Amino acid sequence: MSILIKNISRLYTPLSTKKYGEILELHNAHLLIEGQTISGIFDSGDSLPEAGAVIDAEGKAVLPGFVDAHTHPVFWKTREDEFIMRVQGKSYEEIFKAGGGIRNSVRRFRNASKEQIKAITKKRIAVFFEYGTTTIEAKSGYGLSTADEIKSLEIIAELNKEQQLEMIPTFLGAHEIPDEYQQNRRAYIELIKNEMIPIVAERKLAQFCDIFCEKGVFTVDESREILLTGKEHGLAAKLHADELHAFGGAELAAEINAVSADHLVKISDQGIHDMAEKGVVPVLLPGTTFFLGKDNYAPARKMLEAGCEAAVATDFNPGSSTTQNMQLMWTIGALKMGLLPNELLWATTLTAAKSIQKENKIGSIEQGKQADLVILDIPNLNYLPYHYGVNHTYMTIKKGRVVFRRY
Ligand code: NIG
Ligand code: FE
Repeated sequence: MSILIKNISRLYTPLSTKKYGEILELHNAHLLIEGQTISGIFDSGDSLPEAGAVIDAEGKAVLPGFVDAHTHPVFWKTREDEFIMRVQGKSYEEIFKAGGGIRNSVRRFRNASKEQIKAITKKRIAVFFEYGTTTIEAKSGYGLSTADEIKSLEIIAELNKEQQLEMIPTFLGAHEIPDEYQQNRRAYIELIKNEMIPIVAERKLAQFCDIFCEKGVFTVDESREILLTGKEHGLAAKLHADELHAFGGAELAAEINAVSADHLVKISDQGIHDMAEKGVVPVLLPGTTFFLGKDNYAPARKMLEAGCEAAVATDFNPGSSTTQNMQLMWTIGALKMGLLPNELLWATTLTAAKSIQKENKIGSIEQGKQADLVILDIPNLNYLPYHYGVNHTYMTIKKGRVVFRRY
């Protein structure tokens, strides 16, 4: 079936043929969708094609659906108690070291059934469409046993079949050392390498292997060992790198040709240089720095000047960033990282798609690409980060189907 989206006052998109930051802006445009695919982009002067159905954009703006390239959506209970502890002055690291944080979520995750966690995850991910996000990268990492990590990845696989939001699965068994291995971390690393990764890869439950490479969590050498094992099994590498300390995570990402390195608040100059040289995508998470109540953000401008092409994502998770709202990332990314709307557009669509190896299919409005779109009630692109804390989404379209509409 074909759908014509008419009356688009502003259409904004990055293009595969353009450089990072250069965007296409059309006024009074129309879009034709055939099935799941964008089949025509029409300028104001063009005559309009026939279509089976018409969507009136009512003079609003159309962008590619947001691609949220870093999320942890599969968890059981929320952690507002830890949030209040942070408000009262405890740091995320203190809570983490005292057995809270990720290990707290792990204990709860293991006690809930797959059906219970699946049902709550399904509710949670429906919110992404409300804010105009059409694809997310989704990590496991709250199970930390073979059975519970598989439980997490199976939930993602099943939800990919049962609802419309596309989730690209990442295995994050190396999110933390679970309680029972605290005195024997080597055994946990061996379990990840010899049992979890082979099973996850064999069953095609993940596309990427990720690790929390951080002081007090996994060392650079352990991260290398685990990520290279993942690569041997066909899982491309991602890292949580240099978030709390300059730790050599960005340098490692470049060394092993990771697809992305994420967080990077404390990245070194060498790390920036190495990532730019190897084309590793920095995935910046301004919402995490904000929600942890910290003042120093990842040096986005420095990375762009060095030649990196950055993505921006929410890091949606129960501890360090609880939002599914990519529009809010525009505001924090602009104010705290100095990113401009043209850069934020790339960072949240086409470059985000590149960081999950999906740039040929999604992330821009181009003929032949998947019809993943968001219609926003904004007069121009500068207005999106400017009017903050509200939801500008008027309609979200996934693979040519309307999946959210504001009445
Ligand atoms: O990306 N840094 C590690 N992992 C998550 C936090 C997970 C949690 O606190 O539950 C992050 O910020
Ligand atoms: Fe994360």
